[in-house]
Amino acid sequence: MAKKVSIIGAGAVGATLAHRVLESALADVVLVDISKNIACAKALDLSDASPIVGHERSIIGTDDYGLIRSSDIVVITAGFPRKPGMTREELVSKNASIIKDVSLNVKRHAPDSIVIVVTNPLDIMTYHSLKTTGFKREKVFGMAGVLDSSRFVYLIADELKVARSSVKTYMLGSHGDTMVPIISKTCVGGKPIRDLISKEKLDAIVKRTCDRGAEIVTLLGSGSAYYSPSAAVFKMIDAILNDKKEELVVSAYLKGEYGLDDVCIGVPCSIGGTGIAGIVQLDMSEDESKNFLRSAQAIKNSIKIL
Ligand code: APR
Repeated sequence: MAKKVSIIGAGAVGATLAHRVLESALADVVLVDISKNIACAKALDLSDASPIVGHERSIIGTDDYGLIRSSDIVVITAGFPRKPGMTREELVSKNASIIKDVSLNVKRHAPDSIVIVVTNPLDIMTYHSLKTTGFKREKVFGMAGVLDSSRFVYLIADELKVARSSVKTYMLGSHGDTMVPIISKTCVGGKPIRDLISKEKLDAIVKRTCDRGAEIVTLLGSGSAYYSPSAAVFKMIDAILNDKKEELVVSAYLKGEYGLDDVCIGVPCSIGGTGIAGIVQLDMSEDESKNFLRSAQAIKNSIKIL
């Protein structure tokens, strides 16, 4: 039987992800939005492209959660982006009520699915969805580290004029101002990055990576990034549906790993058919560890707002 991916939120990220999943013929898609017309319109448009592209996958647009039944994966992108002048607290409470509503529907209609959360603030919304669904922690995790690591890789490769595939790195911690680049594990063609780029240049690349989302928001004028976030979710879906057990950085619920409890935060995990197959305990330098713990504390402070 064809695999089934349900995407909640037919906005920029959700619809671009639907496009990727369909046109790679990875799975059938159900696109759910509070605005039924938007979900239906995008589903029709993507269906009309299928004979040209040459795939036989199906997509349905709807506002009916009953149609997500027996999904292998549910991706949650529903929510508001942060607007100028809006505090983080305001965004947390606005999106928290959406995540609660969506997660209760996932629990009711797709209790065996794996849930990938994309809505921001990411780590807090992932925690909220995990607690609301009551699913096992292996089955609810957030997309951020794949994207943040990719942004960092791109900027390093661009600076050194090397192949992007030759750059290995990890961007851990929160998907926000306190994300943590693991410089001690960053290599280009097997050589430590510190031997290849000056500290000043590397600091500037790290800062640009952390600010990349805001850089795109400013240029767009309204809305936020969607090509790279949807590519990152696609990679996670591919790892799950093809049981790749691939090491990817995701926002995972920790129970003692890294000395942390009761928090969702970006760490490397093995991602396969059952969701999180294992959490990788990465060695970090003393400074990196300190920054990681600071990042976890920032997430915990925001969780208290829920
Ligand atoms: N149920 C279902 N859909 C909803 C709900 C809800 N309760 N509330 C809002 N939506 C839908 C909106 O109708 C809209 O179509 O969520 C969609 C969000 O789409 P966009 O505004 O285009 O946002 P997008 O760019 O896709 O980002 C979505 O992902 O990267 C994060 O920060 C980003 O939190 C944001 C999320």
